[in-house]
Amino acid sequence: MEIVICSDAAEAGRLGAAIITALLRRKPDAVLGLATGSSPLAIYDELAARRDAGEVSFAQARGFTLDEYVGLPADHPETYHNVIRKDFVNRVDFAEDAVHGPDGLASDIPAFCSDYEAAIAAAGGVDLQILGIGTDGHIGFNEPGSSLSSRTRIKTLTKQTRIDNARFFEGDIDRVPTHCITQGLGTIMSARHVVLVASGSSKAEAVHHMAEGSVSALWPATILQHHEHVTVLLDEGAASRLQLGSYYRETYQAKPDWQGL
Ligand code: F6R
Repeated sequence: MEIVICSDAAEAGRLGAAIITALLRRKPDAVLGLATGSSPLAIYDELAARRDAGEVSFAQARGFTLDEYVGLPADHPETYHNVIRKDFVNRVDFAEDAVHGPDGLASDIPAFCSDYEAAIAAAGGVDLQILGIGTDGHIGFNEPGSSLSSRTRIKTLTKQTRIDNARFFEGDIDRVPTHCITQGLGTIMSARHVVLVASGSSKAEAVHHMAEGSVSALWPATILQHHEHVTVLLDEGAASRLQLGSYYRETYQAKPDWQGL
């Protein structure tokens, strides 16, 4: 796991966008795993600017989103289907139907989930997965207690996650759905490169456990310690509880340019 402590969230966004740009230049038809929420917004803003400047194209790329609320009407502005289009997909040049996501209105959710896994596999697997992290250590919506090798399935959101996400539902926790469909921890672990971005001190405890704690279902993101290629982009707040913070800074500062991220 490579940990990069950035001066602010905008710098983390620039580094994340640079990693994705390099991937698409190497492999224009790369498969991207897309997260919603606040954390990746700086990456998406930077990618949209790079696309406008003609520096990167998503015309051949494909995407799979991580998760979706169960039961929200299709025209609800907070479905992750609609959010990822507003925040990213519609701002760049993905081909029509190149970005897929879980169907929160599927009548047979288990069948949908196995079809979703099959679609990711048929696309050749995810080349680069963008992740945020919840204050309770979730990635995707794999809440504490999730199986460390889970695949796409329905999950119950914790009260903490519903409190955290009430800001998208007029501050009213009762409007936040209780269930979601999420890629599992095993699904996320199958991605070839994981780029996790976190900002703000509310994420500091989860980030500390993820990078330095014991691997445990209590802090689901700790499974990433077993992944061979994870890049973690943090601002100072999110990095503030790291025990080995100075070591990560020295390592990154001394890193030769040719090594890349
Ligand atoms: C979103 C997702 C979640 C978020 C996490 C952090 O698709 O899977 O794991 O990444 O809840 O959310 P933000 O970034 O809004 O703090």
